[in-house]
Amino acid sequence: MATSSNIVICTGFAQGLRLICKHLLRRGVRTIAVEDPWHNQQRATVRAFGFRVIPIPVDEHGIRVDLLRKTEARAVIVTPAHQYPTGAVLSASRRSSLIDWACLKNALVIEDDYDAEYRYDREPIGALQGLAPDRVVYCGSASKILAPGLRLGWILLPADMVSDVASEKHEEDLGSPVMEQVTFADFINRGELDRHLRKSKIIYRRKRDLMIAAINKQFPSFRVRGVAAGLHLMVELPSEVDESALVASALEHAIGVYGVRPYRLRKGPPALILGYGALSELRISKGIQDLRLHWNPFLLE
Ligand SMILES: Cc1ncc(COP(=O)(O)O)c(C=O)c1O
Repeated sequence: MATSSNIVICTGFAQGLRLICKHLLRRGVRTIAVEDPWHNQQRATVRAFGFRVIPIPVDEHGIRVDLLRKTEARAVIVTPAHQYPTGAVLSASRRSSLIDWACLKNALVIEDDYDAEYRYDREPIGALQGLAPDRVVYCGSASKILAPGLRLGWILLPADMVSDVASEKHEEDLGSPVMEQVTFADFINRGELDRHLRKSKIIYRRKRDLMIAAINKQFPSFRVRGVAAGLHLMVELPSEVDESALVASALEHAIGVYGVRPYRLRKGPPALILGYGALSELRISKGIQDLRLHWNPFLLE
């Protein structure tokens, strides 16, 4: 359960991750397992603290816990609600295996719950933290549900970590700005956040459906993945497509798509990440149409 005594407020997951890294170093942890692919900027943060990073492959059911079990890692960072960037949702059986692993190895699971609220085809799934509050550090952020510019995040901690992480936060910046917290609390208490989420979920769902339909129409051989939640989806490309060349060529025509390669630690098939949250419906259809128009068969490797 979340109470004010086990939460540390931070300036988004970016700072939350740094505070957790500092704590882990103090605990003598030197190796962290991460999902592969995973956010390259966050991976850089972990590496900047000197951790050895062990990549654990992700499939359509989320992180491969069977492979995690074979490593010596005692901490793992996961995005179970909507894996970044593949969009996989951690399956029920993997969720319980992950918790079993953490309990057995006395290990810590760092749960980045960054876009759990936007789940379209079912009710949101519960956080891992609820299954094992002593083994899971839960990280939430206002970045996707409201605005990334707020720089507002929260870390829900096992009891034995709270005072250490709170001291680190104090050392970093003496505390997060209070006005934003008070305003956000008022927004929640008046039911506005719930209303906002209900409304925006309908809008984002429509955009998601539009993007899937446009991709299926223009690129019937591409496979769309990770659509159950969040604000982006992943498109698996035919294996012979040169992902980097495609991204560069799209950019030349002012179409912003991202390749998955920069997020990978190990080689993997070509794929694109397409965000739809900030685009109008018109731009979604036009963007995919333009991508088809400039699709160049010579981009094949
Ligand atoms: C994978 C992932 N986790 C967390 C976040 C939220 O980060 P922050 O709270 O620092 O804005 C993001 C933001 O886009 C993200 O992509």
